Amino acid sequence: MTSKVLLITGGGGVGKTTLSAALAVTAARNGVRTLVVTIDPARRLATALGLKNLGSEPSPHKNEPNLWAAMLDASASWKAIAHRHAPADVADRLVDNPFFEAATQHFPASQSYASAEEMANYVETRAWDLVVIDTPPSAGGIEFFSAPAEMRDLVGGRLLRWLTGGALPGRRTLFTLTARPALRIAGAALGSDLLERVAEFLMDMRTMYDGLARRAVQIEQHFRDARTVVVTTADPAPLREAARFYRELPDRVPDPDAIVFNRVLPDGWHNPKPPTDGPLIENLVRWGAEAHRQTEVRKEFAALWKTDIATVPWRPKTPTTLDDLAALIAKAKGLNLERLGVVPQ
Ligand SMILES: Nc1ncnc2c1ncn2[C@@H]1O[C@H](COP(=O)(O)OP(=O)(O)OP(=O)(O)O)[C@@H](O)[C@H]1O
Ligand SMILES: [Mg+2]
Repeated sequence: MTSKVLLITGGGGVGKTTLSAALAVTAARNGVRTLVVTIDPARRLATALGLKNLGSEPSPHKNEPNLWAAMLDASASWKAIAHRHAPADVADRLVDNPFFEAATQHFPASQSYASAEEMANYVETRAWDLVVIDTPPSAGGIEFFSAPAEMRDLVGGRLLRWLTGGALPGRRTLFTLTARPALRIAGAALGSDLLERVAEFLMDMRTMYDGLARRAVQIEQHFRDARTVVVTTADPAPLREAARFYRELPDRVPDPDAIVFNRVLPDGWHNPKPPTDGPLIENLVRWGAEAHRQTEVRKEFAALWKTDIATVPWRPKTPTTLDDLAALIAKAKGLNLERLGVVPQ
């Protein structure tokens, strides 16, 4: 048995975590053994998924037989990554090094890379039919897919420049260097032998290069085999992010398997004909106009990028139970659940 991978991506705050959970619950209820890996879910959503503790160890849901959930803990993942790719004594030294903390917490691609490497590990255990991966807010959609290459370049040499902001470290530049966020954090802990410690850290990181570079190639293969859902709303910033999947070079980003407009207002709200005036009537007319605008935005997007569009309705309350989540997908329109692996073919 091989696991299918479903990657849920899109701009910030569009509903990636919610829809990852919703698709996973739907899959589980259709008899698909499903693991959902979420990132920072709201507390009530985490509780509904049966996530009592932070941690990347998948836990089975006690009321939903085919559902497992895990929550990405990037810092713990990076410790495991160091132990996987560096010799044991170097890995021990690395994870205790404040620079390691700084680089793995603050380099933009590091959270995405941690989540991608966890994805590869889960898929390769073949314990699930479907692994649903929520992507980190920092990834901003397509950045998730370039994280393996970015990490490889970083460990392979760019780390020095990232730490120092381009300048080569020398005693005289120490003052300006220590103003850099990554070095400031480490500098406070390390004091005056900062430069020696930078050099030691860079050499330790370099021992990870071969392992990490090999893993990055395997992760990129998993990306190519995965199904990708791009979530957006009718608002300008997430729309621009979604459009990048069509604008950028096809070898850099996957062709989305679904474009999902989330928080969609009902079509039936277009052009309401209020009988009289008043604040409630004005409210009705405004929302009618917004529903109309959303429909036009979807039509434009579909025509411009020659793509089908799926919609998920805007629910009056935040979905927090498994039933709420399943209802989101039950009320969705235009989603091909077989293609996404959520319903068995
Ligand atoms: N269809 C919907 N109807 C009503 N509320 C929704 C819907 N989809 C998502 N939400 C709510 O919108 C908020 C943002 O959703 P969510 O956290 O899933 O977004 P996200 O894309 O994961 O955000 P981030 O980029 O910060 O990770 C949450 O409060 C969620 O409950
Ligand atoms: Mg999220």
